[in-house]
Amino acid sequence: MNPTLADVLRASSAALVPHVERPRLESEILLCFVLGVPRTFLHTHDCMRIDTQSLQRFQELLARRKENEPIEYLTKQVSFYNHVFYIAPGALIPRPESELLVDIVADLIRTHSIERVVEVGVGSGALLCSLALMFDSVRFSGGDVSEQALAIAQQNLARFGLSSRISLHHCTFLSGFLSPIPLAYANLPYIAEDYPLESPLSFEPREALFGGRRGDEILLAFLKEARAKDVRFVACEMGHDQKASMESALHRLCARHVSFYRDYAGHWRGFVAEF
Ligand SMILES: C[S@@+](CC[C@H](N)C(=O)[O-])C[C@H]1O[C@@H](n2cnc3c(N)ncnc32)[C@H](O)[C@@H]1O
Repeated sequence: MNPTLADVLRASSAALVPHVERPRLESEILLCFVLGVPRTFLHTHDCMRIDTQSLQRFQELLARRKENEPIEYLTKQVSFYNHVFYIAPGALIPRPESELLVDIVADLIRTHSIERVVEVGVGSGALLCSLALMFDSVRFSGGDVSEQALAIAQQNLARFGLSSRISLHHCTFLSGFLSPIPLAYANLPYIAEDYPLESPLSFEPREALFGGRRGDEILLAFLKEARAKDVRFVACEMGHDQKASMESALHRLCARHVSFYRDYAGHWRGFVAEF
C-alpha cells in the first residue's frame, strides 16, 4: 500500500535535513508541485494515499534537491517582486537583492519622468516584467547575449501579457538599441573567475555569473559603452567589493552624479550614475 501524504512528508523532510535549511517547507513545495495542488491541500488531505506515479516523480525531485539543484529549477518557478515567474536552467534565478534595483529604477522613472528604459542582460526577464507591470506608458526593451535566457524571458513576457509592449534583442550590451537612451540598467555578471562557487550556483549559467578575471570587467565595459551610447542614467547591481573600482571608472567617464546603495545585509550592492 502506498504511503499517505503525511508519511511522505515526514520521510522526505527527514531526508532533506542535512541538505537544505527548511526541509519541511521544501518537501511541501515539491510535493505540491508534483500533485498540482496548493499547500493547504496537504494539510486537509494528510491521510490521502499518494499514487505510485506521483511518488516516483516526487522521489526523483527529492534526489535532485539533495544534490543541491535549486528548488526554483525543479519547480520551474520563482517568486520575485510579488510575482511568480517561469524559470529554467538557461537563466539566472533572480535574487531578492535585485528587487532593490527594481525599486531604484522605478524611482528614477518617476522622478525624471522617463519614457524609455533598456535593460542589459535580462536573464529570465523578471526585473523587466516587474517594472513594465508598474509603468503602463513607459517603453521597455531588453537584451541578452544568451539565446536560452531570451527564450525564458519571452515566456515570462507572454505569461504577463507583455509580449507586445516589450521588445527583446539578442545582442551584447547596448548594440541592439538606438541612442540616446534616457535610462539603462543592468545586473551583469560580477563574480571573479577563480571565485569558488557554492554548489547550488554551479547549476546556473556561467555567463550569468562570471564577470571576468577580476569580476568587474563586464560591468566596466558596459559603463564605457553606456557613456559612448549617450545614456543619461545608468543603474547597476555590482559585487560588494567593487565600489572603488566603479567609483574611479565613473569618475574617468565624467559622470555628473553617482550614488551607491547597500543591500539588505548592509553590503554595497549597486549604484546610479548620471552622465
Ligand atoms: C547576473 S544575470 C542577471 C539576469 C537578470 N537581469 C536578473 O537579475 O535576474 C546576467 C545576465 O547578463 C547576460 N550577459 C552577460 N554578458 C552580457 C553582455 N555583454 N551583454 C548583454 N547581456 C549579457 C547573461 O547572459 C545573463 O543573462
